[in-house]
Amino acid sequence: MTALFSPFVQRGVTLRNRIVVSPMCQYSCTGGFATDWHLVHLGSRAVGGAAVVLAEATAVEARGRISPHDLGLWRDEQVEPLARVTKFIREHGAVPGVQLAHAGRKASTARPWEGGRPVPAAQGGWPVVAPSALPFAPGHPVPAALDAGDLTGIVQAFAAAAKRALAAGFELVEIHAAHGYLLHQFLSPLSNQRTDRYGGAFENRIRLLLEVTDAVRAVWPERLPLWVRVSATDWAEGGGWDLPQTLALARILKARGVDLLDCSSGGTLPHARIPWGPGFQVPFAEAVRREAGLATGAVGFITEPAQAEKVIAAGQADVVLLAREFLRDPYWPMHAARALGATINWPLQYQRAKD
Ligand SMILES: Cc1cc2nc3c(=O)[nH]c(=O)nc-3n(C[C@H](O)[C@H](O)[C@H](O)COP(=O)(O)O)c2cc1C
Repeated sequence: MTALFSPFVQRGVTLRNRIVVSPMCQYSCTGGFATDWHLVHLGSRAVGGAAVVLAEATAVEARGRISPHDLGLWRDEQVEPLARVTKFIREHGAVPGVQLAHAGRKASTARPWEGGRPVPAAQGGWPVVAPSALPFAPGHPVPAALDAGDLTGIVQAFAAAAKRALAAGFELVEIHAAHGYLLHQFLSPLSNQRTDRYGGAFENRIRLLLEVTDAVRAVWPERLPLWVRVSATDWAEGGGWDLPQTLALARILKARGVDLLDCSSGGTLPHARIPWGPGFQVPFAEAVRREAGLATGAVGFITEPAQAEKVIAAGQADVVLLAREFLRDPYWPMHAARALGATINWPLQYQRAKD
């Protein structure tokens, strides 16, 4: 048995291997509703052998959508089309998960294939919010700084969305606190210049994420895992969010019932110098796992079976998350098993192609 294809237990849920479909916006909704695209896209990756299929950044408030076409869980009516998707994923042996998100000042942008620029109000855009009235980049709108009452509402929105995720049949929630979106905007001193109890010192900048974590954990059943995705560093020359702060945060999140830290990076600075390359974020997952004693996920430029196997076997992370490689090949786990000599079950319908 290989490390990559060994099961992994998180609370009352057993992952059949260590391979996770990383959350990927599909920009394929109207009004936040899942469509047939989600059933086929996410369903195929469950059929393909992933252990967890994480649905894309799913907005907890309409104004928290990255684009007008994002998935949402801010209304009860959004549960039913997702229930169809989670049922299919479960039936094919994978754990359905969802990433709960709020884009903050990076909301209201066009789909990547439509240019990705901020969408003006006349074309269906909306006013964006953030910890401080600092735009993401030149040409982006100046966000309204959220007041304490707004923050209470956002914490409640995350908890309400988690309840809806449960009703939709998800078995894993990931809180999105990475990539320069709202919760990361609070973590990073580059985007958070507040002078109240949500800004300034480290303890203040992490407050909103902790409140969201506590509120979600309170409604998310004890038997189900809760993950958090962070950007382990802003890749800033100085003064940003960085690995030492991530390590301190990881210890606190662990004590509050978070089961795994999904270690990504970047997203605060539009032009950060990022050393992209195979496995370039794996050292973050390794450091958190070692220093904070929290399970971790490694993500970013993981494409080769032997590379993924090494990450797990060497104890650098507990799971690997693949994004673009899963767009190239929904059956990556089946191909990886063959490459590594692991025996896994194929869907009965596909058995005749196995040997
Ligand atoms: C089309 C696309 C959409 C993405 N959407 C999300 C998202 O909704 N949430 C998120 O945390 N990351 C998102 N990402 C980032 C991926 O989850 C992943 O962290 C990143 O692509 C690096 O992994 P890779 O090298 O395997 O692609 C997206 C990436 C792609 C390619």
